[in-house]
Amino acid sequence: MLTNKLKFYGLGIGLRDEIQKDILSYLEASSKQTLIQWLEIIPENYINNGGLPRKRFEEVLAKGVPLIPHGVNLSIGSAPQNKKRLEFDFYLLKGLKELFEEIKAPWFSDHLVNSRIGSHYFQELIPVPFTKEAAEVVANNIKYLEDYFQIPFLFENPSYYTNYGLRELREQTFINLVLEKARCGFLLDINNVLVNSMNHKYLPKPFLDDLDLKKVVQVHLGGLKRGYTSKLTGHKIKALDSHGEAVSDVALDLFSYVIKKTKVKAVLLERDMNFSEEGFLGLIYELKQIRKIMDSKYDSEEENEAEKTKLATNQTENISSAEPVTLETEANNRPASSLIDNKTADLNMNPSSIMSPTNSIPAITAVDDLSKNQLANDLDSLNEEFADLG
Ligand SMILES: [Fe+2]
Repeated sequence: MLTNKLKFYGLGIGLRDEIQKDILSYLEASSKQTLIQWLEIIPENYINNGGLPRKRFEEVLAKGVPLIPHGVNLSIGSAPQNKKRLEFDFYLLKGLKELFEEIKAPWFSDHLVNSRIGSHYFQELIPVPFTKEAAEVVANNIKYLEDYFQIPFLFENPSYYTNYGLRELREQTFINLVLEKARCGFLLDINNVLVNSMNHKYLPKPFLDDLDLKKVVQVHLGGLKRGYTSKLTGHKIKALDSHGEAVSDVALDLFSYVIKKTKVKAVLLERDMNFSEEGFLGLIYELKQIRKIMDSKYDSEEENEAEKTKLATNQTENISSAEPVTLETEANNRPASSLIDNKTADLNMNPSSIMSPTNSIPAITAVDDLSKNQLANDLDSLNEEFADLG
């Protein structure tokens, strides 16, 4: 389904129970130029139920802020069993459709994973094998869902921690193939790209270059946990897509890189856990960082347009850029663990160098001295930031 006519929603945050009150108070108190322009909801939490969850949800609905659903149960990577097409849970689809209509959802999304076999759901989002056959299965599932819901669907690239032996296609090729076959939109999770690049040893920026970024409708920006050992298996990984830490400076740089290449309709700060006492102020601070990147892109586009007009008409008037948004929170006063003003690190570096288990700065190759210094600063700041978060 076409996504190019979708309107621009701007910056949003996930609606979670722990911060719902803070979000509503913030929206109440803030001006039109709020940092929270829309809210992402997990629709499965709000379907087929009444009582307290429904009451809480109605408080949000009453605010009139746009709600965009991001599902976790559709399992678009599941293959049909003895049938031509995958059978979806009818009650799930019906509940979702009613909700999407109620909130006037502009689109819906879910993960490019397999989390169900028949009627058995897993707790985990299992990656789909990168094969042509799997791309066909996923595309058919997406087409069915779009046909049922009659709104555009976006799939999200997941983080994954193991590789199948079979890798017929590169991940980028697989994603592009699904986009082409399903003719749907893409939800690009930048932190997932970063986490995967660390665990599977590839470079995030060339990976992004290979993706069909014109199909990106929405972006997720979350935090990662460095170094993680499974309590169950002892398996060690370099990074975990935890959604419980601040967005890293490296992810913000990748975000900046992506939005220079394509126009996205919505950007989400993705946080699901570790809401500390001052957590909400921390989130406002992060939103401010992201907004600053978005605004700088907007400002430079305005300037380019004005420059073109000036050249065309040979006028000499001054070019005015858009008014900077004044952001009204105590987070403005948050002490400078700010990474946003640091110059961009060279993201063509080997991602394993980001993942030094110690606080020492790893050896960096293939970057010039200036980049080395910038990267060293960024890594120091990143280490401090993670240390602060415990
Ligand atoms: Fe995500």
